[in-house]
Amino acid sequence: MMKLIIFGPPSAGKGTQAQRLSKKYGIPQVATGDLLREAVAKKTPLGVKIKSYLDTGKLGPDDLIVQLIRDRVSLADCKDGYLLDGFPRTMGQAKELDKMTQVDLVLNIAVDMEVLVERAVGRRICPKCAAVYHVKFNAPKTAGVCDKCGSSLIQRDDDKEETVRKRLKVYQEQTAPLIEHFKVKGNLVDIDGSKGIEDVFSQMTKAIDRLKK
Ligand code: AP5
Repeated sequence: MMKLIIFGPPSAGKGTQAQRLSKKYGIPQVATGDLLREAVAKKTPLGVKIKSYLDTGKLGPDDLIVQLIRDRVSLADCKDGYLLDGFPRTMGQAKELDKMTQVDLVLNIAVDMEVLVERAVGRRICPKCAAVYHVKFNAPKTAGVCDKCGSSLIQRDDDKEETVRKRLKVYQEQTAPLIEHFKVKGNLVDIDGSKGIEDVFSQMTKAIDRLKK
């Protein structure tokens, strides 16, 4: 049983690393952003409510997000643990999570602001299998095509520079203060996210493997 949080600002590399960690440790990635984008694409009641938040880079209401996580982690595939990606993001969400369960480790990715903008603007995602690429730092074998499932890659609506800067501001104001909360709980490990994808992965696996000993 292992419960992890992958934490950090927009485009720090949370999703990229969460997909790899999920494969290595056999626990599902529970990514609020992916769940919300799926709801929007399917036009579910949640998707209809949440669309304008995603489009403008604002955080969705805590009650909706907490319920989404509660439902997701109660599914059978989460019985041996999970990797939270993009949750919690407000103090209200963090307190609800504390009531729900105890997390073993928070991997906190730190990256410079301007690097984050470049990573977001160059990101391409697969709308079918949610694989993440970058036109320069993590390009697919064939430009615009997913290596894993062959679908055409797309740019996220919220990856336009203006919205990215808004999301970074929201992170500084509402999400970064959670670092102190995790530090007090004593389960936070800092990860240097300015390094390449393999290096960041290795920092994370070392921290997780220390936990398992
Ligand atoms: P969400 O999808 O969670 O977006 P985010 O936190 O802004 O994070 P990103 O997905 O942008 O980035 P990432 O850190 O996963 O980076 P990635 O691996 O893709 O949330 C979207 C929206 O949903 C929010 O704005 C909000 O509206 C709503 N929402 C979600 N959760 C919520 C919550 N809890 N409460 C309320 N609302 C919520 O990497 C980025 C790029 O960089 C990629 O192109 C990648 O290939 C590249 N890259 C990755 N690592 C490296 C590296 N080491 N070196 C070079 N390039 C790299």
